[in-house]
Amino acid sequence: MLYKKSIPQIIQEAKESGEHTLKRTLSSTGLVSLGVGAIIGAGLFSLTGIAAAENAGPAVILSFIIAAIACSFAGLCYAEFASMIPVAGSAYTYSYATMGEFMAWIIGWDLVLEYALASATVAVSWSHYFNELLLTFGFIIPPEYLKGPWEGGYINIPAIIIVCLLSLLLMRGTKESSTVNNLLVILKVAVVLIFIVLGWSFIDSSNHVPFIPENEGEKMVKSGEMGLWSFLNSDYFGQFGISGIFRAAGILFFAFIGFDAVSTAAQEAKNPKKGMPIGIIGSLVICTILYVLFSYVMTGLENYKSFEGDAKPVATAFANTGYTFLNTALIVTILAGYTSVILVMLLGQSRVFYSMSKDGLLPKMFSDLSKNQTPWKTNAFFMLFVSLFAGFVPISDLGHMVSIGTLFAFMLVCIGVLVLRKTDPELERPFKTPFSPLIPVLGIIVCLILMISLPIESWERLAIWLVLGFAIYWFYSRKHSKVRKSHR
Ligand code: ALA
Repeated sequence: MLYKKSIPQIIQEAKESGEHTLKRTLSSTGLVSLGVGAIIGAGLFSLTGIAAAENAGPAVILSFIIAAIACSFAGLCYAEFASMIPVAGSAYTYSYATMGEFMAWIIGWDLVLEYALASATVAVSWSHYFNELLLTFGFIIPPEYLKGPWEGGYINIPAIIIVCLLSLLLMRGTKESSTVNNLLVILKVAVVLIFIVLGWSFIDSSNHVPFIPENEGEKMVKSGEMGLWSFLNSDYFGQFGISGIFRAAGILFFAFIGFDAVSTAAQEAKNPKKGMPIGIIGSLVICTILYVLFSYVMTGLENYKSFEGDAKPVATAFANTGYTFLNTALIVTILAGYTSVILVMLLGQSRVFYSMSKDGLLPKMFSDLSKNQTPWKTNAFFMLFVSLFAGFVPISDLGHMVSIGTLFAFMLVCIGVLVLRKTDPELERPFKTPFSPLIPVLGIIVCLILMISLPIESWERLAIWLVLGFAIYWFYSRKHSKVRKSHR
């Protein structure tokens, strides 16, 4: 289980598989743009409303700041790895080099929760905004075809359609073009800025009061009527008050997912030593500022309670401004922005499974390439897998699963930095996480706190997913691992 790949071996393999042909074209600005492009999506345009309505109220602003802090600790650790091991595969590859095969398998398996389920989550949110767009043209999709059985519908058809279309596009060999990405980023940032600037003067400050809605359970704990343990296990936990701010941070953490996509472009960075930290931290800082302002305006335009169950809260909030004629343009831009996030996530997923299959941990079919050089069987597999989730599972359940899976992966990356500093202190580290071991340790603690603040069902699902992964590892991967064979 502890078989490891050495870092020189990983770099050599990357060269053999032709990755050395990737051109170093991405400047620091290009990397920041890549990060922002992958980050801004359903988390901001959809989950903000839900988190405000169900957990934090207007204090959702603080939740964004907490989530950003957690991400920046993990982001610095990612930057250290990405500048040291500038190859694709991201967290999966890093852990193969540091914590051995089993942990690498676990992280690769766990990344399915991040990439595949994040694309399903964004697809569900896409369907709601798409429906809103159709409504403006007078088309009506029957509501039961916009949600799964757990929400009183049958199936979410538009979400499945967008997943299938983008998967087919990936199978054809879509190459992420920097120019297209830059254009989408400009559009996305523009829509966020327009919302902030135009919405600002329509803020009704009474909507921001109370800033932190009270939590009955927290009051009872303070007065001694309820013990802390009972509170932690009660329905009060996470419903407003301080615990609600943290639970919302755990949920809104989703909104920052994507910055790790910058690390997968390490091999295309002109200067990874400088570019990686700037790309990762720069995109996080920009998004945090935008998110804080955005959520301030959003909760100021509409009372947080009215976002309950609303999957298109931006449109709801924007209806309070005098610029409703911009509504359609706003929705079209949001849809375009979502499309790029789904595409990047589906692409990231296929890269991870491709790397795992190359290492023998998954069947060979996952690394079979089509004549267009795409792992089309992996794409087809995830087209089906993601469609099932997008078609049937409610958005908040999906969001929670993505958050817990990603927090777990980030925690392992932070642990990886600590391990490698101990086991291979002499390796060249073009970028070093500052104040180590403090930052990686803080990263682990904050990720853990956010994980704890998520609903217990997310833990159960994570546990089921990991047990399933363990079974596959035990019965398949262990026996087919190439690294293991090379040690025999
Ligand atoms: N951060 C991405 C989003 O919010 C996943 O859509």
